[in-house]
Amino acid sequence: MLKEIKSDIYHLMHPKMAFFLTSIAKDGKPNVMACAWATPVSEEPPIVVVCVAKEAYTAELIKQTKEFVINIPAKNLLKALWICGKSSGRDADKFARAKLKQDKSKSLKTPIIDGCIGYVECKLWKAVDAGECYAFFGKVLSAYADDKYLKKGLWSLRAEIPFHLGGSRIVYFK
Ligand SMILES: Cc1cc2nc3c(=O)[nH]c(=O)nc-3n(C[C@H](O)[C@H](O)[C@H](O)COP(=O)(O)O)c2cc1C
Repeated sequence: MLKEIKSDIYHLMHPKMAFFLTSIAKDGKPNVMACAWATPVSEEPPIVVVCVAKEAYTAELIKQTKEFVINIPAKNLLKALWICGKSSGRDADKFARAKLKQDKSKSLKTPIIDGCIGYVECKLWKAVDAGECYAFFGKVLSAYADDKYLKKGLWSLRAEIPFHLGGSRIVYFK
C-alpha cells in the first residue's frame, strides 16, 4: 500500500552524503556547518549546488565572500560533524568546539578541514532564493581526494562516508 507523505518529504530523497561546508567572512574568520542537501548539476563546466537555510550563518558568509568548500569526511569525523550541525558559528568557534584543524585550500580564501578524504572548492556562480533556503550554485575551481579511498575514480567501500538518513540517523554504504 502506498502511503501519502505530508511532512518531511525530503526524507524520501535521503540518505544523502553528509559533509562539512566551510565558508569565510570578509574579515577572514572562517565557519563550518554540517550539510547534506547538495548535488552536482553540471559536468561541463563542473557546477554543484548546496542548499543552506537562510537563517544559517553560513548563508550570510557565502553571500558576503562568494565562495565555499565541500569537505567530505569519513566515519572518524562523525562526532565533529554533529557538533557543526547543532550549533551556529554566530555563537561559537565550531573549529575549536569540534576540534577541527584547518588547512589552506588550493584556490580560495576559505580553509579546508584537515583529515577529510575529499574536497570540492567552489566560487559562487548563482544564488537562488528557494523557500527557507538559498540554493548556492558553485563553479568548481579545484577538486581532490585521498586516493587511498578511490578505486578507478569512484569511492571505494573502505571510504566509510557518512550518509544522513534523517533525524539523528547516519548510514554507510557497504
Ligand atoms: C547531518 C546534518 C546535515 C545537515 N544538512 C543541512 C543542509 O543540507 N542544509 C542546511 O541548511 N542545514 C543543514 N544542517 C543543519 C546545519 O548544519 C545547522 O543549522 C548549523 O547550525 C548551521 O550552522 P551555521 O549557523 O554556523 O551556518 C544539517 C545538520 C546535520 C547534523
